[in-house]
Amino acid sequence: MEQRKISFIGSGNMARSIFAGMLSSGYKATQITATGRDESKLKHLCDCYGIHTTTDNNQAVEKADVVILAVKPQMMAEVCAQLQHLDLSNKLIISIAAGISAQRLNDMLAQEVALIRVMPNTPSLVGKGMSGLYASDKVSEDDKDFAGDLMAAVGEICWVDEESGINNIIAAAGSAPAYFFLFMEAMQKEAMAQGFNQDTARLLVQQSALGAAEMVIANPELDLATLREQVTSKGGTTAEAIRTFNEHHLSDIVAQAMQAAVKRAEEMEKLI
Ligand SMILES: NC(=O)c1ccc[n+]([C@@H]2O[C@H](COP(=O)([O-])OP(=O)(O)OC[C@H]3O[C@@H](n4cnc5c(N)ncnc54)[C@H](OP(=O)(O)O)[C@@H]3O)[C@@H](O)[C@H]2O)c1
Repeated sequence: MEQRKISFIGSGNMARSIFAGMLSSGYKATQITATGRDESKLKHLCDCYGIHTTTDNNQAVEKADVVILAVKPQMMAEVCAQLQHLDLSNKLIISIAAGISAQRLNDMLAQEVALIRVMPNTPSLVGKGMSGLYASDKVSEDDKDFAGDLMAAVGEICWVDEESGINNIIAAAGSAPAYFFLFMEAMQKEAMAQGFNQDTARLLVQQSALGAAEMVIANPELDLATLREQVTSKGGTTAEAIRTFNEHHLSDIVAQAMQAAVKRAEEMEKLI
């Protein structure tokens, strides 16, 4: 990956997962700065990762080629207000904050910047993330490549052409780990009701989920329906379970849940 000077404004869970991924992909620690409010947390980061740390957001932004805004959405206006007096015209700004539009970020920074919005998800913390990216008009192809490589350090990436696509990314990937947790939770509960202890029930479910996901990845030429059909013998036990899901309209429930996630993302954009 190209080695640019990069500063993370905010160094919580998501920032840490990204720079940890970058470091394990060979990015130089000396090129990375992370900011935060708590000196002791920053010292810990410095000791663990060898990166620069500071409580001074201005200083971190001034020296960076790329700035990653990684504070909570509700902190973003305050943090951006501190940066308004800086000339950001030669910097790539990446925001990972959910629910803050590019226009709103430009307003918060009081200037029009080369901005990429990234929507990562929590499996980024274990290097298995799925990130959606949207680039505003001012972003060069070079900067897009850089941002793509950056997020590829913690998983897979997907670009959207329209900013509204970020909300669809939230529905299909950002919120999706929780859908799978919910499904696994329900399976664990029923496995326990059928006599397994909690640990065994969890093992049965988690290993099946992992195996199914690995099979999907290992067979890109097979669509998901084919994979399902291949493990569903006519008149067998799986067929009976699938018939029950279909009888209760599982795919309608999933569609409604994903539409509800998009609607909520749109509402949240109006709140910040
Ligand atoms: N976690 C996810 O799954 C996920 C997924 C998609 C998008 N995101 C987005 O990622 C962003 C960060 O989320 P997170 O989960 O990493 O949150 P987090 O763990 O709470 O991290 C936020 C960080 O911001 C720091 N901070 C707060 N105010 C600051 C200031 N004025 N100057 C510098 N640093 C400041 C906090 O420092 P202190 O600890 O000192 O307060 C903390 O290190 C959010 O905008 C969220 O929407 C997260």
